[in-house]
Amino acid sequence: MSVSPEHFVDLLQLGKSYGETRALSDLTLHIKRGEFLTLLGPSGSGKSTTLMMLAGFEQPSEGRILCNGQDITGLPADQRNFGVVFQGYALFPHMTVAQNIAYPLKVRKVAQADINERVGRMLERVGLAGKGGRNIKQLSGGQQQRVALARALIFEPPLLLLDEPLSALDRRLRQEMQVELARMHKEFGTTFVFVTHDQEEALALSDRVAVFNHGRLEQLGTPQEVYERPGSRFVANFLGDTNLLSVGDISRRDDALVCSYQSRPLWITQGVQQPLPAADGQSWLAIRPEHVDLQPLAQAGNGNGVVAQMQHLTYLGTHVNVDLRTPDAQPIALRIPVSHPLLNSLEPGQPYWCSWSKEHGHLLTH
Ligand SMILES: Nc1ncnc2c1ncn2[C@@H]1O[C@H](COP(=O)(O)OP(=O)(O)OP(=O)(O)O)[C@@H](O)[C@H]1O
Ligand SMILES: [Mg+2]
Repeated sequence: MSVSPEHFVDLLQLGKSYGETRALSDLTLHIKRGEFLTLLGPSGSGKSTTLMMLAGFEQPSEGRILCNGQDITGLPADQRNFGVVFQGYALFPHMTVAQNIAYPLKVRKVAQADINERVGRMLERVGLAGKGGRNIKQLSGGQQQRVALARALIFEPPLLLLDEPLSALDRRLRQEMQVELARMHKEFGTTFVFVTHDQEEALALSDRVAVFNHGRLEQLGTPQEVYERPGSRFVANFLGDTNLLSVGDISRRDDALVCSYQSRPLWITQGVQQPLPAADGQSWLAIRPEHVDLQPLAQAGNGNGVVAQMQHLTYLGTHVNVDLRTPDAQPIALRIPVSHPLLNSLEPGQPYWCSWSKEHGHLLTH
């Protein structure tokens, strides 16, 4: 097989079974040199299994792993030279901060003077200058997290594997560490493969996001691609909220598609070049809540939209979530600014016109 020089690691038709449990199936994924790639998916979708095989802690049941074009499928973990930060980050509690960070260099038999210099520099780079002599227990959760990252980065691995490294931290610390991680990725130039089930974290940090579901890669793309052009209802729902309307009679008209919802035409300008879905299959129109506007019923029929009855409001400070329901009981969720002209007159039980521009609807077939 010819391997592109841009590809650093190639996962080729990887599969993994644990006895009767099928953890991962037919995963082909090309990891680019220097990228921040996130594996995102619900619990049990195969993210950690993928990372464990990449690290060399688990052997795949099928498929191969290449690094720089060389087959490393059977290579033991300690010969792969990848940095690893897994959940719980298991620092050595009987060692100081500096001793923890120095550990991978000691194992590699680096000279002591060199170790001291590199650990000193690393402490500064991760914002722990002057804390090298501390006991691990004297550090906050975020500081411990930084020690774990420093320990994984000290031997300058070409690839850093991170499995939910921020999940034990509270919200604020987690956000701080996200910024820190992004900065480190940029500064160190290391390829990062990061696992999370937090979609905001994935969108905020990654160059590309791989969305997993039931042991399969469901979609791979930039954060914008997976959010704005989800390929399935699963991806649309997993990455933020979405409104899904079951639509039929899809046809092409000039440079748009038109479909029917409750005998009303709805226009779509996204994905017009793609083949029309099979007439006997099911199709859905997906629209993000932030793209739906709320108007008085008198505007009904004006542009692309549906009539729906207001259910309730949730005030969130920066915006307001409005939940409505169509006459066929389809929920419609909206996100409107706190300055919206209708906000103070909204009444539960009343019908409103919920509209969106035709660029914002997205047709899905599964
Ligand atoms: N050592 C194991 N033995 C048996 N089954 C396992 C083992 N490790 C994982 N599995 C199973 O494989 C499937 C995928 O697990 P995996 O740990 O990869 O999920 P995950 O996406 O990392 O989930 P989470 O977000 O909960 O960490 C699950 O059904 C899990 O129960
Ligand atoms: Mg996991």
